[in-house]
Amino acid sequence: MCHRLLALLLPALLLSATPVYAGSEEKTVTLPIPPASLEEWYKPANKRQVWLHTMFRLRRSMQAVTQYSALEDRELLTKWAGKLVKDYNSIGDMVPEWRDELETEWAERLLAAAEALDKPVIERALFRLGKSCTGCHREYRAITAALYRTPDFSVVTVEDQETLEDMSYEDTMEGLSISLNRIVIALADQDIKAAKSARQKLVSRLDNLAGSCASCHKDEASREQILGNTNKGKLEKLGTLLEAGDIKESRHAVGDIAVSICARCHGTHRTLSDLREFIVKSE
Ligand code: HEC
Ligand code: HEC
Ligand code: HEC
Repeated sequence: MCHRLLALLLPALLLSATPVYAGSEEKTVTLPIPPASLEEWYKPANKRQVWLHTMFRLRRSMQAVTQYSALEDRELLTKWAGKLVKDYNSIGDMVPEWRDELETEWAERLLAAAEALDKPVIERALFRLGKSCTGCHREYRAITAALYRTPDFSVVTVEDQETLEDMSYEDTMEGLSISLNRIVIALADQDIKAAKSARQKLVSRLDNLAGSCASCHKDEASREQILGNTNKGKLEKLGTLLEAGDIKESRHAVGDIAVSICARCHGTHRTLSDLREFIVKSE
């Protein structure tokens, strides 16, 4: 609550990382946090992603206005200019803190120019509106998506199929990392027995993890991409190579697993999750 209040009082509250490893020429990035009222237009506060859908419509309307202006189709031009201006003005209704930044006069001028099929004015109006789109996007688009549209793994649990205990994602990841590295260490030290038992542990930990995908993914396709038969086959292959005592090939197989299971999932989930957590904690 407290951070929301702060963001409301200081819409351009600057967020920056406190450098822990401060060098003499430390570079930092600052990102303004969007006004708190924006949250209302996103799930779960809203039933739909209202803000995002307004944005998609804006882009479509801009395109339609450009198109029908070129074709000099006055009827469709005024229709789409009307839609564009309605959605554009709704930005200020949804987030009053942003009202003053909008080019509302140019929006009105666009409507009049569309009626009159005055192409030079239409062009100038589109240019001014377009500049206000990119101006806001440059500052707020990425951070908004990170805040309101990234998965929150802190609320997802992973059930251990043996003990039936619920574990946090963080603890699960630590376990996975330990198992994977134990295999690599054992292979480096030519300890096949230790590598085999660590592989088994890794397989069961990944099975546990697979049970958690459904908390967010309604279909199985997403889970299958990372924890489906293809990658299960790679874990099996590692087992076979270890049985055969082939250390060199086993090392390649572990590397392959780390990329196609761990790194691929991290690419879509972890970076965004880290960023989101960082923002929420800094707010
Ligand atoms: C005052 C701020 C603001 C203004 C003005 C604004 N936008 Fe946006 N727009 C945003 C924010 C914030 C996002 C990020 C939303 C998200 O990712 O959930 C966004 C995202 C978008 C997206 C989605 C991008 C994507 O592919 O995911 C489109 C399209 C878009 N805006 C179009 C427009 C157009 C066209 C205009 C001007 C006519 C405009 N916006 C004006 C704030 C603004
Ligand atoms: C906290 C919610 C959450 C959990 C848990 C989760 N995901 Fe995702 N995942 C997402 C979101 C959000 C996206 C972004 C794309 C989207 O909207 O589908 C995504 C995207 C993906 C994608 C990219 C392509 C696609 O199919 O959409 C894959 C693959 C994927 N997830 C696999 C997994 C696997 C495997 C697990 C379980 C080990 C998992 N996810 C667990 C939220 C989650
Ligand atoms: C859902 C797909 C997914 C898969 C598959 C996955 N991870 Fe992760 N991993 C995540 C997410 C999400 C986070 C961030 C979780 C958090 O901090 O709450 C994470 C974080 C981590 C972390 C950092 C933990 C910390 O304390 O910051 C490590 C280490 C890690 N994963 C190792 C692995 C290894 C090793 C594998 C493969 C054997 C793996 N992960 C497979 C999603 C995945």
